[in-house]
Amino acid sequence: MCGIVGYIGHKDAYPILIKGLKRLEYRGYDSAGIALINGKTRTYKCKGKVSDLETFIANQDKSGNIGMGHTRWATHGEPNDVNAHPHISENGYFTVIHNGIIENYDTLKKELISNGYSFKSETDTEVLSNLIEYIFLSKKEITAEKAVRYALSKVIGAYGILVAAKDETNILIAARKGSPLVIGIGHNEYFFASDATPIVEHTKSVIYLDDGQMAIVERDNLMLKTIQNDVLKPEVTEIDINIESIEKDGYDHFMLKEIFEQPIAIKDTFRGRVSKRHQRIYLGGLHKVLPKINNAKRIIIIGCGTSWHAGLVGEYLLEEYARIPVEVEYASEFRYRNPIITEDDVVIAISQSGETADTLAAIKLAKEKGATVIGVCNVVGASIPRETHAGVYTHAGPEIGVASTKAFTAQVTVLTMMALMLGRERGNIDAKLYMEMITAMSNVPKNITKILEQSDLIKKIADKYKDASNFLYLGRGALFPVALEGALKLKEISYIHAEGYPAAEMKHGPIALIDEKMPVVVIATKDKSYEKVVTNIQEVKARKGVVIAIVTEGDQIIKNLANHVIEVPKGHDSIIPLLAVIPLQLISYYIAVARDCNVDQPRNLAKSVTVE
Ligand code: F6R
Repeated sequence: MCGIVGYIGHKDAYPILIKGLKRLEYRGYDSAGIALINGKTRTYKCKGKVSDLETFIANQDKSGNIGMGHTRWATHGEPNDVNAHPHISENGYFTVIHNGIIENYDTLKKELISNGYSFKSETDTEVLSNLIEYIFLSKKEITAEKAVRYALSKVIGAYGILVAAKDETNILIAARKGSPLVIGIGHNEYFFASDATPIVEHTKSVIYLDDGQMAIVERDNLMLKTIQNDVLKPEVTEIDINIESIEKDGYDHFMLKEIFEQPIAIKDTFRGRVSKRHQRIYLGGLHKVLPKINNAKRIIIIGCGTSWHAGLVGEYLLEEYARIPVEVEYASEFRYRNPIITEDDVVIAISQSGETADTLAAIKLAKEKGATVIGVCNVVGASIPRETHAGVYTHAGPEIGVASTKAFTAQVTVLTMMALMLGRERGNIDAKLYMEMITAMSNVPKNITKILEQSDLIKKIADKYKDASNFLYLGRGALFPVALEGALKLKEISYIHAEGYPAAEMKHGPIALIDEKMPVVVIATKDKSYEKVVTNIQEVKARKGVVIAIVTEGDQIIKNLANHVIEVPKGHDSIIPLLAVIPLQLISYYIAVARDCNVDQPRNLAKSVTVE
């Protein structure tokens, strides 16, 4: 939610900031703004995308070696020019950009109003800029740093902020609590951003700010402190992201690129973990907590959205092979319902971004209650992997399209590896079956490639049903969460209403919706529920519904029943979720394109939900 960038150095700040904002636009895209500092501060901001901001600034003075930029996902106040960031304090002393939410902004605002302040915008960020200024002006001989520190001690909520001060034009102040902030270290220059993607083309050396930390940064010096003013030694990390991975690389959209990257992404998830030669699956990141997992009375999986769907697939696999009871919960529900957790519980938190506020809060709650918490996360160095006791990175590479695709298959890959590794360790899988499963997993990338080769067929089907108002997705067992994921993908990027259901539940209600205008996507691969799903297809056909079936290659029975079939290669049941989701991702993508929707930046959404 919201992307922030900053620069202090000797180069022109503007090109660095505008490019950085484009990289971060997936985090929010309803308005954008930039402040450039060249002795004095000039601020430009407007409603719309970063490209609108670029047009707006085209003929303005863009000079300055220091600056900050913001791309917004509105929380307080509608998207408009005034609510866009940066926010300048009433008397012009402080310029602030902010990602997060100041929860007590209303109380602070009332106090400031009673002290003579007035407000132009409806944002919580303007409250912060005025609060810093009020403290600065009312205390004698105070530095900008001290004013920021005092102001932050009064703030309740989450923030990643950058602050510039009128009286100290050679510094930028960064602070973090709950919302991510990364600082890149160049040669006599520093870069700031909500994640590392705007920084990689300038430097690979970064400092990830931790909660409660602030950095006071000059061109050639960085001082790291706690908000309580204790000086800290910065921990410098080298980032491992290459520039190609954050470019579209000839694809029309990041989402399409990320769908097609899945064979490679899954290979990267396997790398060093699944070995046919050594007949072994091993997740080194879990080594120190393995005894805890093996003795766990229960595993609780938490996540949001697509990550929650991956967790549901994980539930089937972990129960089947590890034989440990599993519950899957929305992180946002779990954290607010005083859950019963004991030291015998293991919690698996799944998150692509590693920054989802509800998942982070749920992790903290589980830890407080004594559970062992494992993270399954894509973004290296994000808050969730740093908050958990142990974890497994998915290594799918940067995911920039707002609709999650390769992150989902990478998460399911990790959970599948986990289930098989535990199943073998706990004696539930014999050597022969284990080898069969390792082979099946190793074949997933090439089998996904075979499905991707059918993209022309899938596009034709998508074009035919692009004007439908509703879609139903059906699946059974571990394929039910895949149906949920298919429905979510369609909703979020094409704005068509869609629902996922366990196939057998259809007759308990949703069947009433079926008529000749209703496409029903049925995942009907050959497994132990196959016959039952065939019956479900017949039920849909009997009511004149349109059936698009995802079938095992060579299936003739369903070919004769369904309106369309998309084949997936044969494989062990445990890996079919990884295959069956691919056509669903492509259906959504092509429908959204045919409806002229903004695939990578769907309305109202943002990639990383750092608000609660
Ligand atoms: C859907 C989607 C979201 C995310 C959810 C959790 O395509 O991207 O539903 O899955 O916001 O995000 P992470 O995984 O970053 O915690």
